[in-house]
Amino acid sequence: MTAKPAGLWFGGDYNPEQWDEKTWAADGELMRRARVNTATVGVFAWSLLEPEEGRYEFGWLDEVLDRLHRGGVRVILATPTASPPPWFTLAHPDAMPVTSAGTRLWHGSRDTYCAAAPAYRRAARRIAGELARRYAGHPALALWHVHNEYGTVCWCDHAAAAFRCWLRDRYGTGRRGLAALNDAWGTAFWSQRYSDWEQVLPPRATQWLPNPSQLLDYRRFWSAELLAALREQRDEIRLHTPSVPVTTNFMLPDYQVLDAWAWGSEIDVVAVDHYLDSPGPEGHADIAFCGDRARSWGDGRPWLLMEQAASLIYAGDRNLAKEPGRMLRDSMGYLARGSDSVLFFQWRASPAGAEMLHAAMVPHAGPDSRVFREVAELGRVVERLGEVAGSTVAAEAAVVWDADSAWAMENQRFTPAGLSYVAESRSWHGALWRAGVVSDFVPADGNLPRYRLVLAPALCLVSDDGIAALREYVAGGGHLVMWFFGAMADSRHHARLGGTPGGLLDVFGIRVEEFCPLPDGTRVALSNGESGAVWSERLRADGAEVVAGYADGPLAGLPAITRNAFGGGVAWYVSTRLDGDAADRLTARVLAGAGVRPVVAGAPPGLEAVRRHGDGGRSWLFVLNHTGHPCPVAASGTELLTGRAVTGLLEVAPGAVAVVREDGAGRA
Ligand code: GAL
Repeated sequence: MTAKPAGLWFGGDYNPEQWDEKTWAADGELMRRARVNTATVGVFAWSLLEPEEGRYEFGWLDEVLDRLHRGGVRVILATPTASPPPWFTLAHPDAMPVTSAGTRLWHGSRDTYCAAAPAYRRAARRIAGELARRYAGHPALALWHVHNEYGTVCWCDHAAAAFRCWLRDRYGTGRRGLAALNDAWGTAFWSQRYSDWEQVLPPRATQWLPNPSQLLDYRRFWSAELLAALREQRDEIRLHTPSVPVTTNFMLPDYQVLDAWAWGSEIDVVAVDHYLDSPGPEGHADIAFCGDRARSWGDGRPWLLMEQAASLIYAGDRNLAKEPGRMLRDSMGYLARGSDSVLFFQWRASPAGAEMLHAAMVPHAGPDSRVFREVAELGRVVERLGEVAGSTVAAEAAVVWDADSAWAMENQRFTPAGLSYVAESRSWHGALWRAGVVSDFVPADGNLPRYRLVLAPALCLVSDDGIAALREYVAGGGHLVMWFFGAMADSRHHARLGGTPGGLLDVFGIRVEEFCPLPDGTRVALSNGESGAVWSERLRADGAEVVAGYADGPLAGLPAITRNAFGGGVAWYVSTRLDGDAADRLTARVLAGAGVRPVVAGAPPGLEAVRRHGDGGRSWLFVLNHTGHPCPVAASGTELLTGRAVTGLLEVAPGAVAVVREDGAGRA
């Protein structure tokens, strides 16, 4: 079951409960002007829908759904469980979350609950069921949006009990299970041996360094516990509306609480929220990073961009406005990579509350504003592109995405400041993006042979299955690149002994014997004229070709970057952090070796091109010009934004976008 595409979905979070009925009438007219066809309703409406435990007030929501339906707007109906009402706190104080240091939190914000608390789970399931019963058969209802951005974790006694259950499932019950747990957590270290299950606790604040295996299991546990909470609501909803698809929205770019692979298969369509954190090319590349992950988590199916901001970039300590034209180009970036929607948080800027100053499709200034005019223009464009709905994106290269490694890197005491899994993954995905190559993401033990090239940055933790899959992939002809501290640990977060990349020494033809992190701000020269930063490793080539060596410092004369032919394939190892141009040069060499081509050959830097493929050999070429000058691109067909015929060459104006329905002549 997937969300049935009927054109592309355009609109956003709609919170009419914050407004009077006069504004509701104005909203109807403005949505029509902006060609809004989708509204996400009810995300934070629990206290209005259930003002007292067990007493429901659905009248206002009936009216909202009816109005939207009359206006031709489909509804994504949210279950409001991300923000329990104040009565819930007083009725169930034990369901309020507790921090790792033992502080209990109170209502007054949002996401304040422990998702492992039975009272919360009962209440969440009940309101989801009531909503599904009430709106089953409502003609506006197109998609269920369970919860909002699952990700809140807790360290309370309920969480402790649920954690022990999860651990028993993983390691076994009774004394044998406890022995397996002791082994997995390496509790011989620092006298942590458990002699009874009741002694096993969440990793609460400790006097000194916590146990990394315990921390990792706690991350895994919460991903699974939150997924169980999602499943309960989903199953309750499906009892009443079996044919309405269900989603939940993942929060990007770097909020890494869920194992997205496990979640992607439990929902009918993947939906993500994406807020830019950088203004320039980093931001453009980040949209691609978002889109490629969202598509991959849904196994290539079209996905939904559930939230973006009409004019806001969270740039470090300062929020920036998007420049004119940026919203359109960004939106095309998501569509290009397989989104079937352009949705925003939110339709109308809130008059009060913590997000009062957040951008919206209708800003506080009202419709007579640059933002609303651009929103209306975007609505027109999205409508014109309706025919791409349901089409998909193909990739010859993939980047490994691994939640375990991300979590392990949070916990590694020796991980230098500024080194994070998401940042490493983003930076190498960015190198592919700059090379004009579209890539998927893939789990380390996933279907690797589907790709000519697999990049595995920051893959520090690899399970035995992952090791076997990587080995077979290279042996079978694949090209693999792995970076520093690759495969240093197994899935229990135990060191792989005998040198790293553990279990893959012969595949890479090297043996790393020592990690040598570099002091902040220093660089190490390499023999090929490049330099490295952040990290270096003492490694020996046991058969691998040395592509570049260390040229100064204590490792001078030893290999830094290697390449090894293994079976039918090739395995590259990069033992230091390469920035910018050096990363691009290496990427170009690796891509050429693997035979991976850009979407459009010879595209100038800053011109992004992505192709979506439909049934019957149809295809659409999306071209985004991120530069300040016109860019030519080879294409043939019909440009959908203007309706003009393109015969061989398309010139894209500075900052503009084009979408060509190809007639075959332009495709390489
Ligand atoms: C999202 C969230 C929205 C809103 C938005 C602000 O993460 O789902 O409710 O808070 O951020 O950027």
